[in-house]
Amino acid sequence: MASRQFTKALRSNVARQLAAPTIQRRTFTAALGGIRAGVVPAARAAVAGPAQQIRGVKTIDFAGTKEQVYEREDWPREKLLEYFKNDTLALIGYGSQGHGQGLNLRDNGLNVIVGVRKDGASWKEAVQDGWIPGTNLFDVNEAISKGTIIMNLLSDAAQSETWPAIKPQLTKGKTLYFSHGFSPVFKDLTKVDVPSDVDVILVAPKGSGRTVRSLFREGRGINSSIAVYQDVTGKAEEKAIAMGVAVGSGYLYKTTFEKEVYSDLYGERGCLMGGIHGMFLAQYEVLRERGHSPSEAFNETVEEATQSLYPLIGSHGMDWMYAACSTTARRGAIDWSSRFKDTLKPVFNDLYDAVKDGRETQRSLDYNSQPDYREKYEKEMQEIRDLEIWRAGKAVRGLRPENQK
Ligand SMILES: NC(=O)c1ccc[n+]([C@@H]2O[C@H](COP(=O)([O-])OP(=O)(O)OC[C@H]3O[C@@H](n4cnc5c(N)ncnc54)[C@H](OP(=O)(O)O)[C@@H]3O)[C@@H](O)[C@H]2O)c1
Repeated sequence: MASRQFTKALRSNVARQLAAPTIQRRTFTAALGGIRAGVVPAARAAVAGPAQQIRGVKTIDFAGTKEQVYEREDWPREKLLEYFKNDTLALIGYGSQGHGQGLNLRDNGLNVIVGVRKDGASWKEAVQDGWIPGTNLFDVNEAISKGTIIMNLLSDAAQSETWPAIKPQLTKGKTLYFSHGFSPVFKDLTKVDVPSDVDVILVAPKGSGRTVRSLFREGRGINSSIAVYQDVTGKAEEKAIAMGVAVGSGYLYKTTFEKEVYSDLYGERGCLMGGIHGMFLAQYEVLRERGHSPSEAFNETVEEATQSLYPLIGSHGMDWMYAACSTTARRGAIDWSSRFKDTLKPVFNDLYDAVKDGRETQRSLDYNSQPDYREKYEKEMQEIRDLEIWRAGKAVRGLRPENQK
């Protein structure tokens, strides 16, 4: 059990910091160093060294490894408008990313059009968001024919399914843009073999499209990976950076298509979603089997994690969170973390193998290509909603002041 009073005090401090508007034109070092001086200097030094230069690409020392980072400050709006003045950005698909990236591009004043199926849910959503049929909203083929930069933001399974129709329209001089390396990297499975005479670039926001939009509206920007798969013009990397800024990124981290797709599929199955859900369930079930009430099991598994401790890790790092807890909590957590790590590492290695050898890609293609995949997914979500842990969670959340009438 963590030290409640200290945690409570920090929680409100962190909440204030999280709620505070970020200064838009801050420097990268300022952003990384935005913690109270002297509190966790060792952790701060280990996370990132100073930017090596003021403008252009920055080489940043991430805990001893130097990496290149690009930032939005080098691409003010006027420069973006000039850079893309002869381009039509055809954004194909209007799911989470299409929505976020498309609206940000539109607000940035760029010439962006949306292409989706006329009978689909996305068409209706695009109309609701102010895209106008025949003006900047078209069916997929018409949008591609008008575009110079084709942003393929269909679902990954749909990218594979529609490729035979899309490929012939990607004529010389166009640029093909992805937000995930999935389709070209696993081309043996997806059949997405890109034409040899187009630039192929990637901007992969590290978060949901909803966050791409909300951070942009707050005057901030999401972190994104950028990569080049094929550089025909010699300008592909620059184009990827400019596109990254245009869709609403704050900082852009250079990677490869392969590294992006491996790390992304691995992470979402692991600590980001699947792994953490599995761990919540395991801890909750043991507490319930050992006679604890649903509220106690939920509070000790999820509520304290998400409302108190995880935000501390996010704001200031793991050592800060440890420091915010009791000596009893710290001792046990330090001892048990290595046992969990040793137990889970083989599972993570299995997962990485399944990602790299394409099994996870094949599973996703098979499942998400089924005509009734939405209904099947909804059934699985209902099963999750019906689990006692999440029903208990709903009741616990209902007690929060903001959820009480
Ligand atoms: N979501 C994220 O958090 C996230 C984050 C980073 C990167 N990405 C990547 O961004 C890309 C887009 O992902 P997303 O989550 O935004 O979208 P998504 O929900 O996976 O895909 C939705 C879009 O695909 C269209 N679609 C599905 N099947 C189709 C078909 N057979 N023909 C034509 N259109 C079809 C849907 O149109 P209808 O409404 O007409 O069905 C909808 O516009 C993916 O490569 C994904 O990996 C996603």
